[in-house]
Amino acid sequence: MEKIIDEKQQGNSLVMEPKTENKRKLFIESYGCQMNFSDSEIVASILSKEGYNTTQQLEEADLVLVNTCSIREKAEQTVRKRLEKYNAVKRTNPNMKVGVLGCMAERLKSKFLEEEKIVDLVVGPDAYKDLPNLINEVEEGRNAVNVILSKEETYGDISPVRLQTNGVSAFVSITRGCDNMCTFCVVPFTRGRERSRDPQSIIEEVNDLATKEYKEITLLGQNVDSYLWYGGGLKKDFKDATPMQKATATNFAALLKMVAEAQPKMRIRFSTSNPQDMTLDVIEVMAAHRNICNYIHLPVQSGSDKMLKKMNRLHTREEYFSLIDNIKKIIPDCGISHDIITGFPTETEEDHQDTISLMKYVKYDFGFMFAYSERPGTMAARKFEDDIPEETKKRRLSEIVALQQEHSKYRTEQFLGKTVEVLIEKASKKSDAHWSGRNTQNTVVVFPKENYKVGDFVNVKVNDCTSATLIGEAVGYSENN
Ligand code: SAH
Ligand code: F3S
Repeated sequence: MEKIIDEKQQGNSLVMEPKTENKRKLFIESYGCQMNFSDSEIVASILSKEGYNTTQQLEEADLVLVNTCSIREKAEQTVRKRLEKYNAVKRTNPNMKVGVLGCMAERLKSKFLEEEKIVDLVVGPDAYKDLPNLINEVEEGRNAVNVILSKEETYGDISPVRLQTNGVSAFVSITRGCDNMCTFCVVPFTRGRERSRDPQSIIEEVNDLATKEYKEITLLGQNVDSYLWYGGGLKKDFKDATPMQKATATNFAALLKMVAEAQPKMRIRFSTSNPQDMTLDVIEVMAAHRNICNYIHLPVQSGSDKMLKKMNRLHTREEYFSLIDNIKKIIPDCGISHDIITGFPTETEEDHQDTISLMKYVKYDFGFMFAYSERPGTMAARKFEDDIPEETKKRRLSEIVALQQEHSKYRTEQFLGKTVEVLIEKASKKSDAHWSGRNTQNTVVVFPKENYKVGDFVNVKVNDCTSATLIGEAVGYSENN
């Protein structure tokens, strides 16, 4: 399941149920992280109140919105290519308006309008509630830009329109922005300062999803372990909170517990955890609740202390190992995945070997690996020369991808002969006669459909595996069903 993310494959157009009173057609596409996909559901909700239905046909759209990613240069190039495609369509549909949302909108601001003539509208991640006004501006013949980042906006009061849903799993966002300032990362600049969403509105959203028969939710944030609700406001201002606010604040462990206990049959996942912010009480809450999945995405970026420091990751290799040891002690069968970057400025062969030895220690279930891509405006771009040749970055990348492949195979083999609980999500891509779902560790499991259906919790005996997939047969409904 190890992947080098290919942004080209991440574009996805989304559809929602038509409302008869809605006349105008919105085509919305998302690139990049889960948060973008989740944000597009908020945008669809805001615009459905303005009379927009979503469509999958670009050609018939009145409004085209692309929710963009800036994380690596390639992600931005993918969006530029899409804009060329929109341009071609606009020739046959001159009234079509085009808007850019998300991180590229925030990064490039009004420069977008100069660089890409097709673009009518540029809207940053905190300004989606302003979309109706901005669209009016555009309809009156003016270009419109709102890229103001907010101290408060969490969209906590908006009930997302679930797009492209399997009706089984949904994202619930809990924090926005990031204060960590990893030196390679553009996110703190495009998504602003970190703020948390009111736990009550999170619980209400989860309860609503349960009523609609969703079976799994993923709590989303750039850095979920840093979640802190003290009545509103930025995380960085918590130090100035009143004694009362401090005493009654909700941290991530408390939120996780509240969500798990509000819906004991709902599977709970969360993403992403930054090792420096993950605490033992989170792991203990996971262990104490059957419905919280035994899986942690724990990006490490590098195994070299020198690189970690230069990346402003505020933990050492040893601290990371002790976190892994604690996870495995408290939850022995916990699945763990990673993000790693190769070729960060000044990375030597020795640093690279440190990454390899770290991977060998952890033996991750899977991971996402990337060659370093310098992003304008980041601390790394300002302070360090991007001095590792492209071939070296790529060679190191292929070495860690190959190693991860071995580890993934090792991990999937540990399931052979065992029975795992699977939530059925969809038909298998490879065979329509098989269901596909995931076990608690987030590993994909496929098995013959029989009379089971999407949304069922099923016990599956694992008979075979590849490095990415467990293959088995159902032995009955699980007790969670
Ligand atoms: N905390 C975030 C991280 C977002 S970026 C989250 O919710 O996942 C996802 C991953 O992209 C990072 O962990 C890092 O491995 C990679 N990445 C970020 N900036 C990068 C860059 N400039 N070049 C290459 N990879 C990068
Ligand atoms: Fe980026 Fe580091 Fe935050 S990777 S999103 S600055 S935790």
